[in-house]
Formats: sequence, structure tokens, C-alpha cells
Amino acid sequence: MKRSYIKGIVHSNTQIATNIYELKIKSGDGSLTYFQGSPGQFYMLKSWKLDPFLSRPLSICDISNNMLTFLYEVRGKGTKIISKLNTGNTLELLGPLGNGFNLNLEGNIAIVSGGIGIAPMIYLMKELNNNIDFYCGFRDEIYYIDEIKKESNNIYISTEDGSVGHKGFITELFMPEKYNVVLTCGPIPMMKRVVEMCRGKGTSVYVSMEGRMACGFGACLGCTIETTSGMKRVCKDGPVFLGEEVVFSD
Ligand SMILES: Cc1cc2nc3c(=O)[nH]c(=O)nc-3n(C[C@H](O)[C@H](O)[C@H](O)COP(=O)(O)OP(=O)(O)OC[C@H]3O[C@@H](n4cnc5c(N)ncnc54)[C@H](O)[C@@H]3O)c2cc1C
Ligand code: FES
Repeated sequence: MKRSYIKGIVHSNTQIATNIYELKIKSGDGSLTYFQGSPGQFYMLKSWKLDPFLSRPLSICDISNNMLTFLYEVRGKGTKIISKLNTGNTLELLGPLGNGFNLNLEGNIAIVSGGIGIAPMIYLMKELNNNIDFYCGFRDEIYYIDEIKKESNNIYISTEDGSVGHKGFITELFMPEKYNVVLTCGPIPMMKRVVEMCRGKGTSVYVSMEGRMACGFGACLGCTIETTSGMKRVCKDGPVFLGEEVVFSD
């Protein structure tokens, strides 16, 4: 799928939990009739002129009815500005970018998400069409569970404060030996632990990595990470990598 610059129009921008928003965008470009992108791919978003300088990457959470959905956490300046957008406001998008998840998977599959790492996994689950076990960990407040329930009956939930589901980390519930393939997105320590747990059990793990992005399409080398086969760009070679390939720093 070829990347393109798109003018987007905010359809809705709804706060669904503390600092967590769901943004729905429709195309404001008359010549473009539909959004493109596969699960794990992302768009660079910008709704400001010069400050901050760079666009911000957000994963595709869903594409349906010619509507592009993002789920995002307010972390700093860029996401704060995006959270203030109202219906009808415009923004610039560049995408789809990155490699995305392999969708030709067989056997027993699990998804493991931590916090806002849940964002790309909804679309992934929809497009995979397999029977999937979904493990999702949160710090305290849970969100988007109803969206997961639409696609999976096997949901495991944890919160660190024990307010919903298992009290503790999601990796304490995860049973790697049950699965042939595991797809994970979330905090680095969680993904590192998932890779370690699957090692030697014949389970392939795919991780969706984060990195600070500048160009978003492989030109600036600003987002490189260390892998067993050298430095790789999260935006172009990833964001999805084979877990065993990533050199996780301690
Ligand atoms: C491929 C990709 C897909 C992403 N998808 C989503 C998504 O679907 N939903 C979502 O909420 N977020 C997603 N992110 C993260 C999101 O891009 C950042 O949170 C956002 O760019 C922060 O911008 P800001 O201006 O709000 O914060 P800034 O002011 O730039 O930073 C605020 C704080 O967050 C830290 N920070 C910012 N970006 C990152 C990062 N990438 N990794 C670690 N720490 C960071 C900074 O060091 C700083 O402490 C994704 C990132 C990548 C690379
Ligand atoms: S952000 Fe420029 S190479 Fe990845």
C-alpha cells in the first residue's frame, strides 16, 4: 500500500478513560474514497503548524465505513493538542506506514497487550479471523474491553491495583505453552518478558515496537533499534519484529 498525504476531518474525539481518547477521522480529500492500511501499520498525524515540529505516530486501531480510528494516550505536547480537536477540525495524515503484522497465521494464537498497546490489536483481531485468546493488562482503569469482546470470547484481564481481573501483571496470567503464535504490543518490559516466556516452547512471538519518530518512512534513521541483524528502523523495517530478533536493553 502506497503512503500518501491525506487531509483528515475529525468525526469524533472522545475521552474514554483518564488521558485516553478515541479519535475517528473521515477523509477530507474528495479524490480519496477510502483509508488504507493493515493491522500494525500506523499514520503520522499533525494538527499544528510549527510547534511541536514533528508529526506524531499513531497505530491504526480500526478502518471501517471509510472511517479511520485511533486510540491514544495523552503523553505530551502533541497528543495534548490532538486531544483538544473537535468535530469538523482538520489534520494532516501521512500513511499507512510500517510493515504491519503477518496475517497468515496458523495454530493457536494469543494477543498480549499492555496499556495503550491495545490500540493496534483491535484491528488485528478483526482481520485475523482466527480464534484468539486476548490477554490485556492495565495499570488501573480498563478501557476498550467491549471492543475486544466483540471479537474474542477468551479474554484475560489484569490490573496492577486489582480493581478488575487479576491483581498484578498480565504476564502472570499468560500461558505461553498453549500457543503457536503470540502477538504483543505494550511497554518494553512486558514485551521482553513475553519473549522470554515463549523461548524454547516452539512459540513464535511478534512484537510491535515504539520509537521516537521524525520522518516516519525510513529516511532519517531517527528511530533505529538494535537487533540481532544490526540496527533497524522501527518506522520502515518495523514496527513489527520477530521478538527473538530484538535486542532489548536492560
Ligand atoms: C509506530 C508507533 C505507533 C504508535 N501508536 C500509538 C497509538 O496507537 N496510541 C498511542 O497512544 N501512542 C502510540 N504511539 C506513541 C505515540 O506516538 C507517542 O505517545 C507520541 O508521539 C507522544 O507525543 P507527545 O507530543 O504527546 O509527547 P512528547 O512531548 O513527545 O513526549 C512526552 C513524553 O513521552 C515520552 N515519549 C514520547 N514518545 C515516546 C515513544 N515513542 N516511546 C517512549 N516514550 C515516548 C517522551 O520521552 C516524554 O517523556 C506510537 C508510537 C509509534 C512509534
Ligand atoms: S523516523 Fe525517520 S527513519 Fe524512522
